[in-house]
Parts: sequence; structure tokens; C-alpha cells
Amino acid sequence: MKGIVLAGGSGTRLYPITLTTSKQLLPLYDKPMIYYPLSILFEADIREIVIISTPKHIDLYKELLGTGEDFGVKFYYVIQQEPRGIAEAFLISEDYIKEENVALILGDNVFYGDIIYDIIEKGKKIKEGALISAYYVKDPQRYGIVEFDKEGKPSKIVEKPKNPKSNYAVMGLYFYDKNVIYYAKELKPSQRGELEITDLNNIYLEEGKLNVIKIDKGLAWLDTGTPSSLLEAANFIETIQNRQGLMIAALEEIAYLKGFITLEKLKERAKYFENSEYGKYLLRRIKEFENEI
Ligand code: DAU
Repeated sequence: MKGIVLAGGSGTRLYPITLTTSKQLLPLYDKPMIYYPLSILFEADIREIVIISTPKHIDLYKELLGTGEDFGVKFYYVIQQEPRGIAEAFLISEDYIKEENVALILGDNVFYGDIIYDIIEKGKKIKEGALISAYYVKDPQRYGIVEFDKEGKPSKIVEKPKNPKSNYAVMGLYFYDKNVIYYAKELKPSQRGELEITDLNNIYLEEGKLNVIKIDKGLAWLDTGTPSSLLEAANFIETIQNRQGLMIAALEEIAYLKGFITLEKLKERAKYFENSEYGKYLLRRIKEFENEI
């Protein structure tokens, strides 16, 4: 399975913060935001990942993440010329995805909790069709919303409904079979001029091939769309990390635990960052790993 992190968009909702940089590079407490969605793909054992961003920002991602060698993965960088919609991600990365299943994660989506591992396991096992998750939110007007019929089966997904029929928002982590490229090619731009991920999901739904996991409690899906939600997300990360002394989305640590990189490589990276809390954390973890061996 291949992975895509979509880290483009105009970021206008966070202006002036994002006037000169990409939203998904903003700090979420102690790491760039994109670390968090990347960590989810790592956890899914996905080692070939397409990173999509704007012509202006793509080089910043290259500088931050490199070829992927430091994490034992391969990153491919693809430019999205204009923010023409989430579903365009498949069209512009077709050469890299080829005939494989694909997981798409939005570069500003942050997840924390065990349930995400269940979703990943189910997503990885897809043979035919697609898998999305719907999370109970208090402000459904802001998202793609899943409507359910009388039997509780998903009947339709509506993008940012004015009068939402449910509170279940589609999260920004999607798993598709290899047909996704063909379906994406069928899409027409919506009224707002975008190739909508919701339209793509509705195609799978109409074909009876969309699995929807409903999530009520037990998972944190953090919002990063406004200055105050960014701060709340950062505080959340800090709270959990301080309590446990374990970092969320420390990419090198995950890469090591997954067997993507050796302890030597982990040491090299920890040394590189040794002046920062991130580097000190990696150094501490290395000691713990060595004592466990
Ligand atoms: O976060 C989940 C929601 O994401 C879903 O519930 C919605 O169905 C889906 O449409 C999307 O809604 P948003 O309004 O949050 O999408 P937004 O335009 O903010 O884009 C989400 C991310 O994808 C953001 O990090 C920017 C990036 N993006 C977006 C577009 C439209 C791109 O990189 N390129 C694009 O063309």
C-alpha cells in the first residue's frame, strides 16, 4: 500500500500566520504539524509516501524530510499547482501509486488514541472498495457528513451541509483500493471548483463498496483550523507528553520500533537534534531500548 500526505492548500483561514509558510509546517507544540499525519502512515507500515504541496512550499518539505532515508522510507514530492480539491491528489500522484491500494491523510489531521490503530488495521486489509471513518462532532456544518438510513447504514455523504442530518464527520484518513485513480478521473469540479473527496466517497458508496467506521468516544481527532484550535491541539499534545514522558509522533522512534531503521541510525538522528527536547527525548529512548536488549 502506498501513502499520500496532502499538505497543500492556501491556508487563508490562518492568515497572516500562513502568509509566508505552509499550514502543515506550523508547530504543533514541539514538532511540525506534518509529523503527526506522517506518523499515522508509518504506523500503518506504509513506506512509500507521496507528499503533495504547493509550488511555493514543496522545497520546504524536501528540506524538512529529505528522501526518507532517515526514517527508512521513501518520500516522493509532488506539486499541486492550485488547490483544486483533495481528490486531485490521486490524479497528480498516479505515477507513484500505480496499481496499488492507497491511504490518503490530510496534512493537518491529528489523531491520538488506540482506535486509530483499529482503523489502520482495517484499512490495510481492504481488498476491494474504500474505508473511511466518521467521528461525532458538535459542529457538523464544517465537514463532510455521513447520513444514515433507517437501518443505520450510510446512505450519503454531504460536504459541509447547511442542515446536517447527522453529527458524523468524515475524518481526513481514507483508504482506497487501486480503482481510486479511475474513479477520481470521473470526478467533475464542484460548485466551489474543487474535485471533492466527498464525491469520490459517494461513488464508492453508490457501488456498495464504502466501509464506514463510526466513532463516538475514545479518540482525539484534533482540529487545527483556527488559531485557538491550534493552541488547544498543542496544549493537548503537551499535556499527554508531559504526563507520560512519551512523545506523540516522534518519527524516528516510530521508524525504529517498526524496524524501518537501525539503532545506529536512530542514534545519528538523536545526536543531530541533541540540543532540542526532541533530540534529548530520542537519546533517552535509545538508552531505554539498549537496556531492554
Ligand atoms: O478534515 C476533514 C475534512 O477535510 C472532511 O470532513 C471534508 O469532507 C473534506 O472536504 C475536508 O474539509 P476541509 O474544509 O477541512 O478541507 P480543506 O480545504 O481545509 O483541506 C484539508 C487539507 O487538505 C488542508 O490541509 C489543505 C489540503 N488541501 C486542500 C485542498 C482543497 C490541499 O493540499 N489541496 C487542495 O486542493
